[in-house]
Amino acid sequence: MCVKPIIAPSLLSANFNRLGEEIQMLNRSEADWIHLDVMDGVFVPNISFGMPVIKAVRQLAEKPLDTHLMIVQPERYIQVFKEIGCDLLTVHWEACTHLHRTIAQIKENDMLAGVALNPHTPVSSLEDVIQDLDLVLIMSVNPGFGGQKFISRSLHRISELRKMIERNNSNALIEVDGGVNVDNMKDIINAGADAVVAGNAVFKSENPEETIQKLKQR
Ligand code: DX5
Ligand code: ZN
Repeated sequence: MCVKPIIAPSLLSANFNRLGEEIQMLNRSEADWIHLDVMDGVFVPNISFGMPVIKAVRQLAEKPLDTHLMIVQPERYIQVFKEIGCDLLTVHWEACTHLHRTIAQIKENDMLAGVALNPHTPVSSLEDVIQDLDLVLIMSVNPGFGGQKFISRSLHRISELRKMIERNNSNALIEVDGGVNVDNMKDIINAGADAVVAGNAVFKSENPEETIQKLKQR
């Protein structure tokens, strides 16, 4: 049986002058989740958007909000992200001093809990929390910007994580973020990913809905 991959277009690459229409397009499309990149200008060298924008997105979006926090001390805002309607909350391994506690707090707030790994962070760093996770986000670029090139070493990291998940009987999904496109999609899924984020590949394409469909078919 071949399960179709989860597609999570990243709103960071959308046209913010017509954000409402972009969200309606995602509602019509085969996209599964909407990926929201929150950046604080400290954890990453860029600032994106925060709570008021997510609130507005929630009013229109008919799909789960997959929120990727590229911020320091993300534990300060867990409850707020729940209140504004996020379904899945992913924090960075590199930004959490008490990761185990942060994961528990996300779950206590009735959201799915994810942890993201920067390209240099060993996959093995998650061995002791993998059973508690709903999702691992493998960064296949250095976080901070859309439109970067996929780091090919990420394929090896996905396979390694897949083995760790199986070894530990974990239910965690593997999501891959950065430089994903129609051409490298197949390799990413074959390496063991369940879900992909796609920003530029979707929103800068001529027909975003069709691109989402192509990604879904891998
Ligand atoms: C990068 C973000 C990504 C980004 C992906 O820091 O986490 O989600 O929007 O954009 P593309 O698909 O264009 O690399
Ligand atoms: Zn992201």
